[in-house]
Amino acid sequence: MKEQHLKLARVLISKEELRAIVERLATEIRRDYQGRTPLLVGVLKGSFIFLADLVRCLNMPLEIEFVRLASYGAGTTSSGRVRVIQGISGDIRHRDILLVEDIVDTGLTISHLMQTLHRKGAASIRLCALLDKPSQRKVDIKVDYLGSLIPDEFVVGYGLDYAEQYRYLPAIYALGKED
Ligand code: XMP
Ligand code: MG
Repeated sequence: MKEQHLKLARVLISKEELRAIVERLATEIRRDYQGRTPLLVGVLKGSFIFLADLVRCLNMPLEIEFVRLASYGAGTTSSGRVRVIQGISGDIRHRDILLVEDIVDTGLTISHLMQTLHRKGAASIRLCALLDKPSQRKVDIKVDYLGSLIPDEFVVGYGLDYAEQYRYLPAIYALGKED
């Protein structure tokens, strides 16, 4: 696929559907973490809108950290290499970590991060992902709180980008080829 010929194709998950997904996930998370103060770790940049909507819906005691990793260049396929651009700064020993990710694709990014957090002594680590694209999976990853399964298409919007574009879109779109 010639990547310069990609264009916005169709809405895969509407604004209203995203709202319902976030509310459902918040209900599940609130129930499971009752009486605890989880540390939500957002994976930048793609998760920033999802995380912001999720915490407002959660409305419970929690703390927030961010990490920044990159496994993609400017294209639409994973490079297979995970680069840590900004790691977790504080002490996470004995903390209940909830990773918040935009999308799990090969699973390499999240498995790399989970191993790191494990080594740093987290009490528990769970994963909340808005989207799961299981067709390209390379490592076995369990998504504890999943928004939606999607087919093997490159998606943008609601924080997700194509070469840093389209993050502002309020819905999730599948990118198609220019005809
Ligand atoms: P892996 O393959 O490590 O990839 O599970 C996860 C990261 O890759 C990015 N990714 C996407 N970003 N549209 C995007 O905007 C997509 O369809 C897509 N698929 C994977 C994403 O940053 C995620 O954190
Ligand atoms: Mg990205």
